Amino acid sequence: MSAVGRTALTLADIAEAARGRLDPAVWDFIAGGAGEERTLRANLAAFEQVRLRPRVLAGGGRPDTSTRILGRTWAAPVAVAPVAYHTLADPAGETATAEAAGALGVPLVVSTFAGRTFEDVAAAATAPLWAQVYCFRDREETRRLVERAERAGFEALVLTVDAPHLGRRTRDLRNDFRLPPGIAPANLAGADYSSPSGHAAAEFDPALDWSVVAWLRSISRLPILLKGILSADDARRAVDAGADGIVVSNHGGRQLDGAPATLEVLAEVAEAVGGVCPVLLDGGVRRGVDVLAALALGADAVLLGRPVVYGLAAEGREGAERVLRIVVDELVDAMGLAGVGSVAEAGPALLRTGVAPLPAASEAAAAVEPAVAPPARTAAAPGGLGMADLHPSLSDPVLDTMNFLNDITRRYPQAISFAPGRPYDEHFETEQIFDYLRRYLGHLEQRGFTPKQQREALFQYGPTRGQIRELIADWLREEEDVDVPVDSIVVTVGCQEAMVLALRALISGPEDVLLVASPCYVGITGAARMLDIGLAGVAEREDGFDPAELEAVVREQRALGRRPRAFYVVPDHANPSGNTMSLANRHALLELAERLDLLVLEDSPYRLVSPGKQLPTLKSLDRDRRVVQLGSFSKTLFPGARVGYAIADQPVAGAGLLADELTKLKSMITVNTSPLSQAAAAGMLLAGEGRLAEINTEATAHYEGAMRVTLKALDEHLPEPRRSVLGVRWNKPSGGFFLTLNVPFRADNEALTRSAEEFGVIWTPMSYFYPLGGGEHAIRLSTSYPTHAELEEGVARLARFIESESRAG
Ligand code: FNR
Repeated sequence: MSAVGRTALTLADIAEAARGRLDPAVWDFIAGGAGEERTLRANLAAFEQVRLRPRVLAGGGRPDTSTRILGRTWAAPVAVAPVAYHTLADPAGETATAEAAGALGVPLVVSTFAGRTFEDVAAAATAPLWAQVYCFRDREETRRLVERAERAGFEALVLTVDAPHLGRRTRDLRNDFRLPPGIAPANLAGADYSSPSGHAAAEFDPALDWSVVAWLRSISRLPILLKGILSADDARRAVDAGADGIVVSNHGGRQLDGAPATLEVLAEVAEAVGGVCPVLLDGGVRRGVDVLAALALGADAVLLGRPVVYGLAAEGREGAERVLRIVVDELVDAMGLAGVGSVAEAGPALLRTGVAPLPAASEAAAAVEPAVAPPARTAAAPGGLGMADLHPSLSDPVLDTMNFLNDITRRYPQAISFAPGRPYDEHFETEQIFDYLRRYLGHLEQRGFTPKQQREALFQYGPTRGQIRELIADWLREEEDVDVPVDSIVVTVGCQEAMVLALRALISGPEDVLLVASPCYVGITGAARMLDIGLAGVAEREDGFDPAELEAVVREQRALGRRPRAFYVVPDHANPSGNTMSLANRHALLELAERLDLLVLEDSPYRLVSPGKQLPTLKSLDRDRRVVQLGSFSKTLFPGARVGYAIADQPVAGAGLLADELTKLKSMITVNTSPLSQAAAAGMLLAGEGRLAEINTEATAHYEGAMRVTLKALDEHLPEPRRSVLGVRWNKPSGGFFLTLNVPFRADNEALTRSAEEFGVIWTPMSYFYPLGGGEHAIRLSTSYPTHAELEEGVARLARFIESESRAG
């Protein structure tokens, strides 16, 4: 019979027993977590609100709780979270916990502040050990710690990233808690750590940034997990920075008002990570059903912190083992009740209602009230369809970006909008369409098409590759100095289809990633999301990009076992930034593409409606067939045609050209681009005698004027030194539709709503164009569509809005 007795059936019983055994100040230190208790309550309440769907008669016998994480099999998707000084609970400390975890076949994450040495713990362990590390001001201290763990046979590093800003340990401050004699960090040589509430502030590096991942990578070959991530943005940045895993954690108690419960943000983090690396969660896991809930919301496994230490305090090794066993047994029960045979089967379909977001200030109420209605996006419709049943990209904000803008535009019809990237359309006349069609038919007749063939060319299915490829090839040679075989061209339904085809063809497996300029056009990032393609960002600059950064990103991705396949760029007057890649960088990009074995996806819709001589396209400079050009006629002919093209002249070993493969894919998506649209587009191309710049002189003059008027109005309404005082800057694009305005406040949807409602002006938050996070303080202004008078008035309103926001800030 154990010390706690057979009645201790739940983790709450064991916690009670531990409380009775521990010195009150020690109890406070452990129970208080890293800050206030309200976040623990929020974590617990969030689990309370999950409703799982029961299933009966599922068969299959005892559910299999085993899972594989970072190449190792765990007996259950549960591990012990890093908690300092297990020696406070039991003299054997982490060695006892390691034995307990080993008995269950689950890993132990050993804290930087473990009371026992890594070597002792390793000697007692039979399951995987991970080392939790903090990054100290003195990096050498961290390096020694890491090297020591690695030598002792630890299998991964868990870098705690929320440490520099730990919540205030109120209870410890009140108790003036000091470690009792004999309790000390066994793996640290440096400072005096006897006051745990003080040492975080004193010793942890407060200036830590994402580069720490690369630094850790440079000193250790072990996989690196980041613990303390609480948002999709940070999760993406973590993956980008090279993390091998993520632990959603709020360290048991953060004081930031409105900081979420870990479970609340799990789904968004898991979705952002997209299966690229494991996602773990801790904070408030107290029952087997909590583990299942976390799995259903996207976690690969959970960590258990305080309960294990309570077990240790209550009954030593046996107590820690008992805690883990209770949770695993309960998990088996929960899986059985939910009809889940294995960990891999535990997905979103298990959720009956999802998790409701917690009102910021009422966690206590949330804990006693019945489940709050779930957010609309996760609710199952009467027919049983919920967002969780649909492809995850449908819940991704990137596919929703334009909806919010459309909404705002509808709600504030009087507002002047700098949002739409629509082409100028004053010079179009409806009758022209018939002229274009006739002109195209005339062209066919000249080429010897019989009336029957002409009829077919308009009314029938057309060739999948497109029927106006020769005309496009001639135009490319004539105007763009691009000389490619007709067979390398595929006519597509707008440039968007060309993007989808190129991505689908080039991405062959889960390790393949697409590199994108950051910020980036949402059409490509949305398509990538829709096709489950991972992204890595390369920061855009006013001259395009930094070749050294591109090279570093490629190498970083490769070091992570990923294969960057292509780099998507808009080299001329980019959407969204307005920046143009310099000639030197165009050459550098082609040289790098060859050296790093990369393809370049070039998308340049604005160059022929921009004033003055344009720099050569990447495709025209491409000697090694590194560039796939994704072409659009939406700005140069008319967007209603929905005609675009891809040039894919890359030979495919054992097959023909890449264009042939794109054609196969196209036959399964759109079969062929509408012959009627192709005919109209071709007629317009013929009308311009293959010189698109010429047929666009009026439109180009409009865009040039619009950009000039906008820049001039900005200068007038936000003159120097006022704009410097405010911290407002903008670039001065030499063409295109867009410019970037940097502002000193958060330019988010809330700010946009204020701008539309109170100042009558609409713009696009630049953050929409950062799939991996960023751009919170920038605005995209699109100048193409409003009249010049509207642009002037719009800038005046915008300046008033900026002044007002800056004052409010
Ligand atoms: C912790 N935690 C923690 N985390 C970490 O990364 N390194 C550490 O040294 C510690 N130390 C520590 C001490 C004590 C007393 C507590 C309570 C917590 C945080 C821990 O890993 C975990 O994130 C939280 O405890 C939340 O999980 P539970 O306890 O709610 O399961």
